[in-house]
Amino acid sequence: MSDWLTIKSDYDAMSEAAAKQVAILIRENNRKGKSTVLGLATGSTPTGLYKELVRLYEEEQLDFSNVITFNLDNYWPCDDAHEKSYVKEMNEKLFDHIIGGERGIKRENIHIPSGKVVEDAIEEHCIAYEEKMKQVGGIDLQIVGIGKNGHIGFNEPEHLADGTPWYKLRTRKVDLSPATIKANGLDGTGIKSAITMGIDTIMQAKSVLLLASGPDKAQIINETFGAEGLNLKSPAGILAGHEHCHLLIDEAAAAAIDKGEAAIKGKGVIARG
Ligand code: PGA
Repeated sequence: MSDWLTIKSDYDAMSEAAAKQVAILIRENNRKGKSTVLGLATGSTPTGLYKELVRLYEEEQLDFSNVITFNLDNYWPCDDAHEKSYVKEMNEKLFDHIIGGERGIKRENIHIPSGKVVEDAIEEHCIAYEEKMKQVGGIDLQIVGIGKNGHIGFNEPEHLADGTPWYKLRTRKVDLSPATIKANGLDGTGIKSAITMGIDTIMQAKSVLLLASGPDKAQIINETFGAEGLNLKSPAGILAGHEHCHLLIDEAAAAAIDKGEAAIKGKGVIARG
C-alpha cells in the first residue's frame, strides 16, 4: 500500500472500499492456495464492512473456507451471551452469516479473546492467543477502529502514560479507561476490564487498515495524525510507524485535518476518492 490516507465521501463508501480490500486479499490468497489471516475489530465502525463482506459471500461467491480470524479484544469477565460480548457481536454481524457450506468460514478458524477464562488462566490464554497467530504465519491484514481517546484495541492512552514502551504491550488483561467505559455504554454493566491484543501485537500484522467515520472522530484523527504532527499520546499514532498501515476514513472524520495536511502528507500521498 503506497498511500497513507484515503478519504471517502461517507460511511458507506468507506465500508465498501474496506470490504473490497479484504475481498481482493482473500481472492488472491485463495487463487494461490494460501490461507488469509484477518485481524478483526468490533464497534460501530466496521459494521458496514462486515455487512458488505456478507453480501460478497452471498452474491459474489467470496470464499471464506480458507480464512482465519483473530479479534482484537473482548471484555473480561463477560459471558458469550452477554449483550456486550464481542463473541455475540461478531456472530451477529459476520460469522453467523458466513459459516457452514463449502465457501463458509470454519468455526475452528475463528479466534476471539475469551471473556470466560478464569482469572488465574488469563496469562496462559493470552500467550496461547499470540502463539496461535504465529502458528498460522501471522496476521495478513489487521482492521482497527480508533477510540475517541485514541485507543486501538483496548490499548488506552493510560497504558502508555507510565512510560511503558508500546513494543512491550502484547495480548494481556487491561483496565478500561473511564472514557472507554462511557463511550462504550458500559456504565451499570460492571465491566471494567478487557483482554486485548497489545500495540506490539497489532504492529506485527503485515498490514493494518484503520477505519474512522463521522464527526465524533474528527478531533482524535486530527490530534493523532494531523496538526502538530504525530501525537504518540494517542496509541493509534504509533501506527504511523508501520510500513503498511493505511488510514481509510470518511469526510466527516477528516473534517479537522486540513491544517495538518503537511504532517499527513509527510507519510505519503493523500488519495481522495
Ligand atoms: P467505534 O469504536 O467503532 O464504536 O467508534 C472504535 C473503538 O473504540 O476502537
